Parts: sequence; structure tokens; C-alpha cells
Amino acid sequence: MKDISLIKHAYSAPGLRLFGLGPDFQPMKGLEKLQFLFNQNTLWAKDRTRDQIKKMLANSNVIITLWNNRDLVGFGRATTDQVYRAVLWDIVVSKDLQRAGLGKVIVEELLNDKKISAAEKVYLMTTDSKDFYKQLGFKVNINQSLMILNKK
Ligand SMILES: CC(C)(COP(=O)(O)OP(=O)(O)OC[C@H]1O[C@@H](n2cnc3c(N)ncnc32)[C@H](O)[C@@H]1OP(=O)(O)O)[C@@H](O)C(=O)NCCC(=O)NCCS
Repeated sequence: MKDISLIKHAYSAPGLRLFGLGPDFQPMKGLEKLQFLFNQNTLWAKDRTRDQIKKMLANSNVIITLWNNRDLVGFGRATTDQVYRAVLWDIVVSKDLQRAGLGKVIVEELLNDKKISAAEKVYLMTTDSKDFYKQLGFKVNINQSLMILNKK
């Protein structure tokens, strides 16, 4: 898509995390913008503080951001042991740019990363977006249950 730039960040996204860097390594208040993107477009990540987001980035293996000039319009991240299991987290596209192929770009970029493609299985959790993930090859698993230990 014209004017959209994709950043595949270095491991743990130090530029974004420590300096808020965006395209061309320019300071763009990236952390504030990521917090805003989560707040505006997700149900599960509305109350994240900047310190928590920093820690989250520091401990993620693969991190993708999408920018429309100075606006942060897409995000996705993954964790992986690089052998058995990888998990996708926090895939989000800004509402005004949804259904334009950007979510697909984010997920494909994560799946094509060699640390993710090295894993035997890639997992994710979704409430409303099954059809989005199905067209990317994911299948609903009815044999296993999602178990959660809620601590908050
Ligand atoms: C889910 C999300 C990331 C999808 O991103 P997107 O950029 O809108 O998706 P794309 O345009 O890349 O979609 C590609 C294809 O996926 C399918 N798709 C996308 N969203 C869909 C939806 N809500 N329902 C059904 N199919 C969908 C369609 O086949 C679409 O192709 P089409 O536009 O030609 O019909 C985005 O809607 C979003 O950020 N939602 C809010 C946050 C969220 O729920 N994230 C998922 C957490 S698990």
C-alpha cells in the first residue's frame, strides 16, 4: 500500500523501546503511539502502561510495526523457542485502515521470520478474528482447550 512502511525491528526492538524510533530511525514517539494504537483498536490491551509495553517489547522475539508517514497504524509480535512452539500476540491494525490487506502483511511477515518458521507449530488466540486467520492457513482446534490462570 502506498505510503505505508513496514519495520521489522531488531530483537526486542531497542530503538522503538528506548527512543521511540519509527521509519528511517527517526524519533516518532513510538511508545506513546503504540499505547494509543492498543487503546483505540483492541479490547484486550487498553490499559497497558508505557513501562509494561517496554517490558513486553524487550521480551518479544519478533516485532513488526507499520507506519503511515508518522502514524503508527499496525503492530504484531511473536515469541518462539525456535524449535517446537511459536505464538503470535497483539496483532492490530488501526480501524481506519482495516480491510486493506495490512493485517495480512503483518502476520505473513511474522510467519516468514526464520525464528518463527523454525517452530513446528504456531499458536494464537482470537475472539472475533477467526476468519482473518483462517485465510492465512490457521485452523480452529477443537481437541484442545485454552487454559488460563488469571492473575489480574
Ligand atoms: C484482525 C485485524 C488485525 C485484521 O487486519 P486487516 O488489515 O483488517 O485484515 P486484512 O485486510 O489483511 O484482511 C485480509 C483478509 O482477511 C479476512 N478478514 C479480515 N478481517 C476480517 C473480519 N473481521 N471478518 C472476516 N474476514 C476478515 C478477509 O478475507 C480479508 O480479505 P478481504 O478484505 O479481501 O475480504 C484487524 O481487523 C484488527 O486490528 N482488528 C482489531 C484487533 C483485533 O481483533 N486483532 C486480532 C487479535 S487476535
